[in-house]
Amino acid sequence: MSIDPYRRLGRGYDRHRRPDPRIHQAIARAVGDAATVANVGAGPGAYELAATVLAVEPSPTMIAQRPAGAAPVVRARAEAIPLRDGAVDTALAVLTVHHWTDPAAGLAELVRVSRRQVILTWDPEVFARELWLVADYLPQIAAAERPLACLTTITDELARHDRRVDVRAVPVPADCRDGFLGAFWRRPHSYLDPTVRAGASGLASLSPEVAGPALQRLADDLATGRWHASHRHLLDLDELDLGYRLVLATAR
Ligand SMILES: C[S@@+](CC[C@H](N)C(=O)[O-])C[C@H]1O[C@@H](n2cnc3c(N)ncnc32)[C@H](O)[C@@H]1O
Repeated sequence: MSIDPYRRLGRGYDRHRRPDPRIHQAIARAVGDAATVANVGAGPGAYELAATVLAVEPSPTMIAQRPAGAAPVVRARAEAIPLRDGAVDTALAVLTVHHWTDPAAGLAELVRVSRRQVILTWDPEVFARELWLVADYLPQIAAAERPLACLTTITDELARHDRRVDVRAVPVPADCRDGFLGAFWRRPHSYLDPTVRAGASGLASLSPEVAGPALQRLADDLATGRWHASHRHLLDLDELDLGYRLVLATAR
């Protein structure tokens, strides 16, 4: 396991990706009264729950950012989880499946090691339509994300394992504390901040040739009031459905 894609993108990740309490609550509600949880693709542990008995994470950069007192972590991939069959009540995977080399193998592992699976992912169609940054300025983000394993790949794969699947929307609060790509939908100036962009892999991985002109257009639209004129309807909303989804799976 020598390649660590988070060696560059993951530095300072814990500063950008602070857990949002409302999203944390939605995850906690989905996990329910599970006594034992394995957090797979755990990163620094932003949404770790008290019942977490093991965090599974391949990146040493991410592991190094786990705070003292976080759940015990093993350096491993979702595709080969070092747990016996049915070892935990729930396997949790938060915004990670799209990073896995072999999502089908990783999802099979979640099903093998746990009775229930809870996965936070997104619906790319809703995302590309509802997040103005993508729809109006950077459709390249949607194009780059199209091949990624997200909602339908995950639900189809879990159905193949004979799971009963329930999908819940997770709206993004207007003042979301987390720094993922959709978090700043009502704070458009934030996307002009390089620190904010560095925390959202969908933006951070764009080339300067693509990101530069689009962000300049956003800066101009903000300066002239054009952005506010065309997005006025967003300014009174406290939360917005950008397509983030919790997938809950159990045996049929
Ligand atoms: C966007 S981060 C999410 C981290 C954490 N779940 C959170 O919400 O803050 C994606 C994580 O998936 C991890 N990852 C990448 N490939 C993986 C794999 N094959 N198996 C498990 N985790 C993987 C990355 O190292 C990274 O920590």
